Amino acid sequence: MIKKGIILAGGMGTRMSPLTKAVNKQLLPIYDKPLIYYPLSILMLAKIKDILIIVNKGQLNQYKKLLPSGKNLGLKITYKEQEKPRGLPDAFIIGEKFINKSNVAMILGDNFFYGQNLSKLLSECAKLKNGSKVILHSVQNPESFGVAKINPKTKKILKIIEKPKKFVSNYAITGLYFFDKKVVEYAKKLKPSKRGELEIIDLINKYKKRNKLYSEFIGRGGAWLDTGSISDYYKTSAFVQAIENRQGLKIACIEEIALLNGWIGKKEILGQIGFYGNCEYSSYLKKLIK
Ligand code: TTP
Repeated sequence: MIKKGIILAGGMGTRMSPLTKAVNKQLLPIYDKPLIYYPLSILMLAKIKDILIIVNKGQLNQYKKLLPSGKNLGLKITYKEQEKPRGLPDAFIIGEKFINKSNVAMILGDNFFYGQNLSKLLSECAKLKNGSKVILHSVQNPESFGVAKINPKTKKILKIIEKPKKFVSNYAITGLYFFDKKVVEYAKKLKPSKRGELEIIDLINKYKKRNKLYSEFIGRGGAWLDTGSISDYYKTSAFVQAIENRQGLKIACIEEIALLNGWIGKKEILGQIGFYGNCEYSSYLKKLIK
């Protein structure tokens, strides 16, 4: 089972400036909680407790105020700073010590996943022993993403292409990846692309070349939403608001997931209520331990 996970929570957030001038994107709210709670909850649903959060240089204290050690969540949270946004595979170079020759999951700090069967899919992914597994989701505008051409019968990935100009497939590669321990060695061998960044597609291709690239699909019942542009960001927020208000259940309540996983009990929930203070989120937590 994969026991370690990385959240890549740096980045410039240029498309969301001026909102991101003073505050990192992942600390901005998606409806009733900070954006980073959503990718964190995904790692927790995959039963991953040992988590490295990579943040921009100079932003460590902001994050530590929100998520100090992870103790009240049954997690072990550690941090590393990224000097500058060198690209997504940089996570594995920065995280070499943390990874310590284990298999690892990585999720982008601004990615939102939701849907039935998600927990099942995540448990399946966490079983990865060798190779790499990526999560695919159907999109209307594949030209804006890295996409995978697959064999419809075997679901094996035949080809991956970054932002294809001509249609090849509408399966986008989402921002959640599972890798075996070779990932550090492969990431270190990458060369920056024309735009000057290490590219995740090049990293995934190293596994593809060795015939070790696997995939899982988020079907129609699931959602993978972007939060990179202002418009997409507010659409995601509205989505969370609509579902939460209808169901009376929260999406990505990290304390609730920890409780359901059996990692924490009443004492830790009370600790979190004290930490948040008198707010709607705390009222929800109170209901959980009634
Ligand atoms: P991007 O969407 O590529 O970049 P960004 O979030 O900085 O936004 P913009 O394009 O508007 O400038 O990044 C995807 C996610 O990965 C996001 O959560 C930030 C994170 N990231 C890093 O932490 N370090 C990096 O080097 C890169 C490239 C991204």
